[in-house]
Amino acid sequence: MAAPKEPVWNIDPHTRAKHAILRRYLQAWMPILARGRFPEVMYFDGFAGPGRYSDGEEGSPIIALRAARNQHIGPEVKLRFVFIEKNSSRADNLKKTIKNFDIPENFRIEIGHGEEFEEAFNRILLSYGAKGLPPTFAFVDPFGWSGVPFSIIKKIMQYQHCEVLINFMYEEVNRFIGHQDQVNNFDRFFGTRKWQAGIRLSRANERSRFFHNIYLGQLRKGANARFARSFQMRNQNDAVDYYLFHATNHIRGLARMKEAMWKVDESGEFSFSDATDPDQLVLFEKEPRYEILRNQILRRFTGRVASVGEVEEFVLAETAFRERHYKVQVLKPLELAARPIIEPVGSPPNRKRGTYGDRSLRLRFRSILP
Ligand SMILES: C[S@@+](CC[C@H](N)C(=O)[O-])C[C@H]1O[C@@H](n2cnc3c(N)ncnc32)[C@H](O)[C@@H]1O
Repeated sequence: MAAPKEPVWNIDPHTRAKHAILRRYLQAWMPILARGRFPEVMYFDGFAGPGRYSDGEEGSPIIALRAARNQHIGPEVKLRFVFIEKNSSRADNLKKTIKNFDIPENFRIEIGHGEEFEEAFNRILLSYGAKGLPPTFAFVDPFGWSGVPFSIIKKIMQYQHCEVLINFMYEEVNRFIGHQDQVNNFDRFFGTRKWQAGIRLSRANERSRFFHNIYLGQLRKGANARFARSFQMRNQNDAVDYYLFHATNHIRGLARMKEAMWKVDESGEFSFSDATDPDQLVLFEKEPRYEILRNQILRRFTGRVASVGEVEEFVLAETAFRERHYKVQVLKPLELAARPIIEPVGSPPNRKRGTYGDRSLRLRFRSILP
């Protein structure tokens, strides 16, 4: 889809999916941070848009404001909302939309009218001086790739409590990536020149995977994000439309993002999948495919002793699954099997078999085939 020229445009179903994820995630993220007793928390929308679509649907700034307002965050926490929009008519629209919004006392809203993401971010970062950014959620939602330098993503991720959700518009990227006049823009977007080797790949899956992996690698190694995962949305022709990349330094952030992703798919309206592991594209379906998780857990832990907490961290950080997927559906059948594959090590005598509430409980994964 070409980027719309008019100030306000029609929402498409894939944007709706993205919004549902953003909404759900912020509803969980805002209260977590508010409880963390930080004096200030920031939502930074680098590509804010007009605030409303032509059919009345709310845009990301309003979604964020509403998500925060509904959480009844105490007045002692200051919530700073920064909305950056380069296009003046869209910024005007956004301003008007926000005027009709009932704004709590502790919200501070700024619209970077006609400003670009990069300069706005640098300006704000500078304003915090040596103390650096407060806990920040940055939503980076461009139409394409220009104006999204990786150097900025890296700057955000250097702060422990900051995270990013990036809409990687693969379809657009793919259309322009061979164009000579875009080489510098793509160098800046990826923050490396390694992407250039992907131009000659002609098979669609191989190509999308290649560019995806470069970006994921950059988040993990270039920006040093402790956790980075990607989620894929395919279009009606079953081609990759966009990837959402989420980078965070907190496992709870990762857990909440996965929850948001899995729930979006429950509607059955969209086809979302975890795209992080090239060998294992896991679709977010109503009934997760537990056998995939079971195999991943066994591959990792067979022949070893690990605590429930370690298994959980593995599930969250290295598989597409959620923390609620591995106990009843995977560990329990492994323990209760006629020939048990896992057995607790030194568990208290009153422990009920097949329960894993105690994260320090150690489990031996036996080297036998079922
Ligand atoms: C995909 S739309 C954003 C939609 C919005 N985030 C939402 O979910 O409702 C991208 C927006 O970024 C604006 N834009 C494009 N380049 C920009 C830049 N370098 N800095 C800030 N805004 C930019 C466009 O005018 C457009 O309104």
